[in-house]
Amino acid sequence: MTRKLAAGNWKMHGHTPNLAELQRLLDIHSNAKCDVLLCPPATLIHRMATMCTDSKLAIGGQDCHGAVTGAHTGEISAQMLADAGATYVIVGHSERRTDHNETNADIRSKAEAAIAADLTAIVCLGESEAERLAGSTIEVIEQQLIESLPSTANAENLVIAYEPIWAIGTGMVPTLDQIAEVHDFLRGKLREIMANAADDIPLLYGGSVKAANAVDIFNVSNVDGALVGGASLKADDFSPIISALDVHAK
Ligand code: PGA
Repeated sequence: MTRKLAAGNWKMHGHTPNLAELQRLLDIHSNAKCDVLLCPPATLIHRMATMCTDSKLAIGGQDCHGAVTGAHTGEISAQMLADAGATYVIVGHSERRTDHNETNADIRSKAEAAIAADLTAIVCLGESEAERLAGSTIEVIEQQLIESLPSTANAENLVIAYEPIWAIGTGMVPTLDQIAEVHDFLRGKLREIMANAADDIPLLYGGSVKAANAVDIFNVSNVDGALVGGASLKADDFSPIISALDVHAK
């Protein structure tokens, strides 16, 4: 069975007092069967990773550079994230694609850098509202997948997150059929590219996941978890999402 992953993306939110939210998750979910991940701002990674030592919870970065070192002021390499205690990194989030003009080729090089540093890369894909309305969702997803898939990917070091841009932070969510269509497509395409390994790659849905819709979303075929933004900031909001996924995990 594909492993299940509840991943939280704190984006540019979180200071020292917010470490209490992680402590609550550690207290509640010490026996979680699904994998649980928080991706805080880089400034909290080391402290959070230390808190998570010997626990079921993992800590990840929200982005990394494609190079190992160099004259790139303000950037963080995958090795630096690993050195701080991260075991995952999100690459290609739509906010990075938009705010920093990241291309599929950039995202592939970041994902390859992540894998080379022994991190699991969470590669994000998703269509805009205009692309959805134009009926080109599958075409867009296919191109993003083919162009951003790291050549070194395997079932242990890759997670794919489908995040329709119009659903992120808006409260709008695709229908369960629309989610199933994309996730089934992704699984099929990965099978073409990676053969048997494809079945073990977790496929996350992201975009306005809340406790109220998580149960239904986790029942959709080929959905192996969620990438959660706003509802991951408070343990009280994220915890029921973790519990909803946990029933699907071995
Ligand atoms: P949201 O964000 O859950 O706040 O919609 C999801 C994401 O951007 O990963």
